Amino acid sequence: MDKEKTIEEAGEYIKELLGSDTTGHDFFHSERVYKTSLKIAKSEGGDSFVIGLAAWLHDADDVKLFSESSDLEHARQFMTKHEVGSNIQERVCKIIHEISFKGTDSVKPSSLEGKIVQDADRLEAIGAIGIARAFAYGGKTGRKIYDPAEKPLLNMDEKTYRAHFDTSINHFYEKLLNLKDMMNTKTGKKLAESRHKFMENYLDEFFAEWNGTK
Ligand code: ADP
Ligand code: NI
Repeated sequence: MDKEKTIEEAGEYIKELLGSDTTGHDFFHSERVYKTSLKIAKSEGGDSFVIGLAAWLHDADDVKLFSESSDLEHARQFMTKHEVGSNIQERVCKIIHEISFKGTDSVKPSSLEGKIVQDADRLEAIGAIGIARAFAYGGKTGRKIYDPAEKPLLNMDEKTYRAHFDTSINHFYEKLLNLKDMMNTKTGKKLAESRHKFMENYLDEFFAEWNGTK
């Protein structure tokens, strides 16, 4: 198995699988997670092959996109087809299982590689890109932009979080503003700071315009 070629083909596979997604989980999201993961790994270390595979494949079976996909079917099929050894396959699958935000049931990844890819994925949920993705996902799934009558629900467990149908602005309070303090690595924390501030400024502007005070 040629590692470099396998990573390249993982990117091509994701382009085919998620190329036409419009929920914020498109090919370019996975590509940015891949690039940011490698950037974080430069200062944090870790096995770059495991990191690269997990980054490219982390959304290939996301329950938000593929409700019927059973136990990382796409990711496993891709790796088996490319003769990735079972030990690496298990390490990658563990990272993918641990990566998602699940409210108070969120998991701190057990491996350094998992910590890095989770940080890169979470950086995608905050800042300018995070704002764009939240409204894209919200619109696509029929959520309102904002409704003052609906209050955010804090500290949800996984089951409540998945079943909860909130406005996109509430999603900032329920998830996005919490991510900065949930970063695993020093590098990830640093990258999260300015994105977090940008989001806070954005919300200030949003409410000033909403309330007519600006
Ligand atoms: P995770 O696996 O941690 O959920 P993803 O990479 O799949 O992360 O991205 C999920 C993104 O989808 C969120 O960061 C957000 O932008 C968007 N999203 C999820 N739920 C909502 C929601 N209820 N309202 C608006 N956006 C949402
Ligand atoms: Ni993702």
